[in-house]
Amino acid sequence: MAKKLAVIGAGLMGSGIAQVSAQAGWDVVLRDVTDEALTRGTDGIRASYDKFVSKGKLTAEEAEAALGRITTTTDLDAAADADVVVEAVFERIDVKREIFRALDGLVKDETILASNTSAIPITKIAAATERPERVVGTHFFSPVPMMRLCELVRGHKTSDETLATAREFAESVGKTCIVVNRDVAGFVTTRLISALIVEATKLYESGVATAEDIDTACKLGFGHAMGPLATADLTGVDILLHATENIYTESQDEKFAPPELMRRMVDAGDIGRKSGQGFYRY
Ligand SMILES: NC(=O)c1ccc[n+]([C@@H]2O[C@H](COP(=O)([O-])OP(=O)(O)OC[C@H]3O[C@@H](n4cnc5c(N)ncnc54)[C@H](O)[C@@H]3O)[C@@H](O)[C@H]2O)c1
Repeated sequence: MAKKLAVIGAGLMGSGIAQVSAQAGWDVVLRDVTDEALTRGTDGIRASYDKFVSKGKLTAEEAEAALGRITTTTDLDAAADADVVVEAVFERIDVKREIFRALDGLVKDETILASNTSAIPITKIAAATERPERVVGTHFFSPVPMMRLCELVRGHKTSDETLATAREFAESVGKTCIVVNRDVAGFVTTRLISALIVEATKLYESGVATAEDIDTACKLGFGHAMGPLATADLTGVDILLHATENIYTESQDEKFAPPELMRRMVDAGDIGRKSGQGFYRY
């Protein structure tokens, strides 16, 4: 019998996780708070399947079958018989803790509860439940159907068994996992990219090299798909400043101290692609 996955939140990430899971044979129930959000989510999934079909990466029958494995609901109770639950709602700790508290009273004892948070400590989310050993981070990357990485995060009490179940789930939907053994701010991926972007910003602000040359160095020298300053513009300089500040506050490690230029760019509204100006003009 197919295993059942509940995905809480039908936004960009939740719908992507539902999409790859249904394609891999999971029965998926996708839950959001409004019908509009669910419709947006499933429209996105359908459009993405269509793209894979037109590229010959999926047959129309496979896409139809996968869509047929996804049901949508605004009722959290529909998660009651799930084997795995992945939460992908707004990045707000109060909202996440409330959902985990409710899920804890609802799902089977053996069900694991995973969060797709990019930055909130898993331990803080797990503490809202009576099953912190069965709470884990499954940090998928955007766009989920394209990006192969899933960063698994152990909270302070996450059990080996839970981590193994989370890995089994992520691998079953085609992802390669890395494990973050301690619940540190920024996990592994945000720490790495923050350190690189902070150093790239310092090199740029002190006139050592142009933005273009710093990015070219990373692309041609290290094989990165995108340079750090272009990545900062794409992600949003404001989002990165916030992430870097969080890591710096927790670690007190000087290499994460946000450079002055990053702060001034955010003050001035030059936050990247979404504002038309960041390290580059758009
Ligand atoms: N966007 C990214 O690139 C990215 C990458 C990795 C991780 N994340 C993380 O994934 C999570 C989701 O991000 P997103 O970009 O998909 O957000 P999003 O804004 O696209 O979607 C969030 C969805 O959650 C829904 N929601 C809010 N409260 C809810 C509730 N109580 N029950 C059910 N649904 C609820 C909203 O209606 C919305 O549809 C966040 O924790 C984010 O930090 C995002």
